[in-house]
Formats: sequence, C-alpha cells, structure tokens
Amino acid sequence: MEARVLTEVRGSTLRVAMNRPEKKNALTLDMYGELTAAFSRAASDDAIRSLWITGAPGVFTAGNDLGDFMKAPPTGTDSPVMRFLEALIEFKKPIIATVDGPAVGVGTTMLLHCDFVLATDRARFQMPFTKLGLVPEAASSLLFPQLVGRQRAAKWLLLGHPFDGKEACEAGLVLKVIAPEGLDSAAEALAAEIAALPREAVQLSKGLLRRGQEAAVKDAMAQEGALFVERLRSPETMEALMSFMTKRG
Ligand code: COA
Repeated sequence: MEARVLTEVRGSTLRVAMNRPEKKNALTLDMYGELTAAFSRAASDDAIRSLWITGAPGVFTAGNDLGDFMKAPPTGTDSPVMRFLEALIEFKKPIIATVDGPAVGVGTTMLLHCDFVLATDRARFQMPFTKLGLVPEAASSLLFPQLVGRQRAAKWLLLGHPFDGKEACEAGLVLKVIAPEGLDSAAEALAAEIAALPREAVQLSKGLLRRGQEAAVKDAMAQEGALFVERLRSPETMEALMSFMTKRG
C-alpha cells in the first residue's frame, strides 16, 4: 500500500509530505502516528537541521478525517492527534510549512506552531469547528486572537470563514505568498539558510521565541482538548458528521 506520509531527507531538512490526495490529505489515525514518528526522527538526527511539512500539489490537508471522528474519536491526551500536536509543539528545530490549496481545521491550526509558513495563491485556510459542533484546538483559541486580534479571530474561528494566502500573510500567519512552481525551491532555500547558521544558537533562539507562551499554550490545549472530546459525542457534532458522510456516500 502507498505510504500516506512520505519522508525524504533533502539536504539538511526532513521533508514530510502528507500523501492522501484523493481524500484531500484528510488525516487518519495512522497518518498522525506517521507524522509523529517523522518529528521524532528529525529531532534525534543531528544532521537534520529543520523539518519541512507539506502536502501534495494543490492540497495541504482537509484536516482530521471526518469518518475517523465518528469511528474512532480521540478520547484523551494519548490519542494519535494529541501526540502529534505535542510533538509539533515540543519540536526544537525550525519547522517550515508549505501550503498549496486547502488547509482545513488542524491543517490551519498546526501552522501556528511552524516557524516559517510559505503559501501559494491557491492556499485556502479554514477552521470550520463550530459548523461541526466542535471547538478550536491546537491552542488556536489562544494564539489566533493574539496574532490577529479578537475580531478576525472570531470571523475565522466562530464563523469559520475561509481566508486566502494574501490575508494569511497580512495577518502574520504566513511569511510569504509564492507561485506554486516556486514553492519547493523557496522552502529549500530557507532550509539551506537555517543549516548555514550555528545549530545550537538557532535552537536556543527558537526556544526563546516561544518561552513566553509555553505554559499558556499547554493550558489552552488541555482545556480545548477536554471540550473537543466531549463535543465529539454531542448531538450537534453527530448530526454534522452524519450529514457529511451521507452527502458523500
Ligand atoms: N475527512 C474525510 N474525507 C474527506 C475530508 C475529511 N476531512 N475532506 C475531504 N474528504 C474526501 C471527500 O469526502 C471526497 O471523497 P470522495 O471522493 O470519496 O467523495 C474527497 O475527499 C474529495 O473531497 P471534495 O470535497 O470533493 O474536494 P473539494 O476540492 O471539493 O473540497 C475541501 C475540498 C477540503 C474544501 C472539502 O473536502 C472539505 O470541506 N472537507 C471537509 C473539511 C473538514 O471539515 N475538516 C475537518 C475540520 S475539523
């Protein structure tokens, strides 16, 4: 069977690509496990100086697989999605993300924890949590208001409005908007720039950039996680998931 998460060492970076394009890279339990393993591999190899997370051409990820939310919902902190988020948040080396096409749910919220986010003009970000009867995750309820202010955070997180690469760039979620054909080379150039810097200084500096928020991020994740798990069993969410599944067959 084809690997659903592809990993490849490219120079000094570990390129990690979600690879389920026929389902818009919707993340299954196994895929979260593979992503977590990739983070751990990149963390333990000194030759790897950064991790580069990406999707396929035209799609980053449609977020959590909605069928899995019904069949095998996360029940606590040891669930594959929570372990993935923990690996992402704890990762000490720089993380580059390249986004081309839809980035939904965790596909958008994970970017809050990446150091360099490059997007194309086809990128489309959306966090439709409330439409699914759910609540925000990955500390997005804390970090989005901080990053973009309460008003835009409410538009994106309460109303679930989508936004494009330009808006994401203006808001500070994305560093640069690039044409799709230039995306990979821009990420490679960034990875090379990181690798040319002193390794320890880069990691220590990343730690300092996050220092003021570490405890608050963990606290937000714990509160969001508890509510999220509860909401997955709510009639509102059941109805939304059933409607997605029946429409799609
Ligand atoms: N979970 C499971 N399957 C998903 C999925 C998800 N999150 N997102 C997309 N898919 C599947 C679709 O069911 C469809 O499968 P099918 O071909 O067997 O019918 C396939 O991926 C293609 O999706 P489609 O909706 O036809 O593509 P699109 O380009 O029109 O739209 C999205 C792409 C991402 C905007 C749309 O699929 C979407 O909104 N998905 C749901 C996203 C979501 O709510 N995520 C959870 C957030 S918490």
